[in-house]
Amino acid sequence: MKIVFATGNEGKMREIRMIMSDLGAEIKSMKELGIDIPIDENGKTFEENARIKARAVADELAARGDKAVVLADDSGLEIDYLNKEPGVYSARYMGEDTPYSIKNASLIKRLEGVPDDKRTARFVCVIAAVFPDKTEYQTRATIEGIIGYEEKGENGFGYDPIFYLPEYGKYSAELSPDEKNRISHRGKALDAMKKYLKTKIQAFTDK
Ligand code: IMP
Repeated sequence: MKIVFATGNEGKMREIRMIMSDLGAEIKSMKELGIDIPIDENGKTFEENARIKARAVADELAARGDKAVVLADDSGLEIDYLNKEPGVYSARYMGEDTPYSIKNASLIKRLEGVPDDKRTARFVCVIAAVFPDKTEYQTRATIEGIIGYEEKGENGFGYDPIFYLPEYGKYSAELSPDEKNRISHRGKALDAMKKYLKTKIQAFTDK
């Protein structure tokens, strides 16, 4: 079985290769397959956006007569006090090229005076799969936390430095990559997808 992950992000490719390594499947990036198509992520939900990406790449592969399982993810940060902003706009919040130090400072400012119990937030990740027979499957996972009062930690990326995990007594940017993969929204959604793919491979092998 060949798996294609619909992302241009090398960090995500590394993560998925690590998590899916025991599947025994070939895992390719869009770049490796020479797929460079514009994808309009205009969905209103993480589910819609993940599906849009996976379907676009699946259609391109089908047009080339190539067979693969296409996976795509969509993720973001939901802050309850801000009506779940930035949500599906997490990457585009204040502009795609704006440094995260500025985006993070803006979110902390917007929560000025808001007590701990109202600073609840979560990272969400949805993984969509499109199979060669056009059937689809999705997994979703979250990690709950609160928005801190300052930026802390050097690891991770994006909103990790303001995302405090009460259960672990640390900010997300203070977790090691291994620790983060084990508990993160993306790690858990990828793991659930891996379990499903294993049953699909088994069913295929049993035929
Ligand atoms: P995507 O690549 O379109 O899924 O955009 C996800 C955006 O959500 C990223 O650009 C970050 O702003 C935010 N995000 C998602 N996952 C994480 C995470 O694990 N840490 C920090 N920020 C994240």
